[in-house]
Amino acid sequence: MQHNPIGIFDSGVGGTSIWKEITQLLPHENTIYLADSKYAPYGKRSKAEILELSVKNTETLLDFGCKIIVAACNTATTNAIKELRSRYDVPFIGIEPAIKPAAIHTKTKKVGVLATKGTLSSELFAKTSDLYARNIEVIEVIGAGLVELIENDKIDSPEMQSLLSSYMNPLIKKNIDYLVLGCSHYPYLIPILKKMLSDRVTIIDSGEAVAKQTKAILERTALINTNTKLGTHSLYTNENVVILEKILKSSASSYAVNKLDF
Ligand code: DGL
Repeated sequence: MQHNPIGIFDSGVGGTSIWKEITQLLPHENTIYLADSKYAPYGKRSKAEILELSVKNTETLLDFGCKIIVAACNTATTNAIKELRSRYDVPFIGIEPAIKPAAIHTKTKKVGVLATKGTLSSELFAKTSDLYARNIEVIEVIGAGLVELIENDKIDSPEMQSLLSSYMNPLIKKNIDYLVLGCSHYPYLIPILKKMLSDRVTIIDSGEAVAKQTKAILERTALINTNTKLGTHSLYTNENVVILEKILKSSASSYAVNKLDF
């Protein structure tokens, strides 16, 4: 079982930001990544649909023999992880907006959270927000349209620039000093966001924390791969192979990208 792959899924290409963190921290692990781009964005879908898609992705990863599953999608985690954990024996790692560190460190007591509608309206997000951000103002912004642009290879486009500035301007006026990225697609927007926000705003995403949690759970369950060879990585998309390849180009790992119907 140790040598079996880590399974990672997202609604599309965005979760590769988490895959990169995992392969960097755990270079000897084998991985399988599923980009469910055909059904993206999840953020506009109902909880029942998000669960159904998450089950489909989980079963595909289990067919590959995955020993642990990472839902590299905030929308899937906040809407479906509880049900997934109760249905399957395999351990699940999820990703949620990192409100806690932002709430601890903010000086202006104003924190922005950019996420999908599905994440911001979930019970799990409300709970986390209540728990950690009681004494600060959390300004929630739905990043409508951002995932669609990323999925269509339009990160560096005028449309992205104007959409992002329409979301950031109100946050700048509110004097936030932390911006929490609550969607695994958004780390790919950090270079643009940095130009828009002054140095006074710190941008946080959850990628590193998810990789550390994956490692901790693999160690605790004795599933960590003790191989000394570098791991192998297969990434699958049910949509456009070229877009997935393009977003991976800055990765240090070597990998294979293929089309798969799932
Ligand atoms: N990467 C997904 C997330 O983290 C994007 C959601 C979507 O498909 O709308 O929430």
